[in-house]
Amino acid sequence: MTSAELPPLSGEVALVTGASRGIGYGVAEALVARGDRVCITGRNEDALKEAVEKLGAERVIGVAGKAHDLDHQSEAVERTMEAFGRLDHLVNNAGTNPVFGPIADLDLDVARKVFETNVISALGFAQKTWHAWQKDNGGTIVNIASIAGLAPSPFIGAYGVSKAAMINLTQQLAHEFAPRVRVNAIAPAVVKTKFAQALYEGREEEAAASYPLGRLGVPSDIGGAAAFLTSGQSAWVTGQTLVVDGGLFLNAGV
Ligand SMILES: NC(=O)c1ccc[n+]([C@@H]2O[C@H](COP(=O)([O-])OP(=O)(O)OC[C@H]3O[C@@H](n4cnc5c(N)ncnc54)[C@H](OP(=O)(O)O)[C@@H]3O)[C@@H](O)[C@H]2O)c1
Repeated sequence: MTSAELPPLSGEVALVTGASRGIGYGVAEALVARGDRVCITGRNEDALKEAVEKLGAERVIGVAGKAHDLDHQSEAVERTMEAFGRLDHLVNNAGTNPVFGPIADLDLDVARKVFETNVISALGFAQKTWHAWQKDNGGTIVNIASIAGLAPSPFIGAYGVSKAAMINLTQQLAHEFAPRVRVNAIAPAVVKTKFAQALYEGREEEAAASYPLGRLGVPSDIGGAAAFLTSGQSAWVTGQTLVVDGGLFLNAGV
């Protein structure tokens, strides 16, 4: 996007974790498109730089690091405040799902790691954003959960338990941070990203067949939902989990 094509500034600023590609990138893209300035994070510095360039370096900065690293969390929040002077919206998107198999045999160190990245990191970013800006000025938080957090998910049990925790964390934060800050979650079904590739690669039509809307998700589907939950359009919504699943849950009980 050239400077001339940029939308007018909204005056608001967002921090989106894990946003060099996939859902996080889709969220950042939706927020930049409405005029927000955005800080994105990710572990790989080169991929992050490339994403900043694609999104528009006039309005986007990148801070590389691991979501669970406390120093990285502080740096991301501080650099956002330095660059843009405020931090209205936090989107906790960085997440991991490193194992596939029965929970009976799950290595508990792996379970701890999943919790650390998916749940504790989100809490750390929320605490830091609250103290840096939101407690005095308000804003929103959106946690990217999963439909795996709403019902048992065979073979990705630890991931599902962590996403269920994220949904409860959303309610806890919504209760504690009200009325200044609204906190909501999004629970996507399969969205076409590197993370979910193994679930549909080479068999997308078959994978999409059980979705009433006839297709798998794409990152902009989640970007649209996050734009809603971080806007005044959702001013009376807090503590909720918005299921964005192409209608997949409508099959429950069928
Ligand atoms: N795709 C789906 O079907 C689906 C469905 C439901 C929920 N979700 C959730 O959506 C979120 C994003 O998933 P995605 O599908 O967009 O994944 P993705 O395409 O693999 O993208 C993940 C992004 O996060 C970064 N990242 C990964 N681990 C990180 C860490 N520990 N610290 C900081 N950044 C990290 C990655 O960059 P680096 O690798 O460079 O760090 C990348 O930018 C996750 O929380 C996932 O659980 C996904």
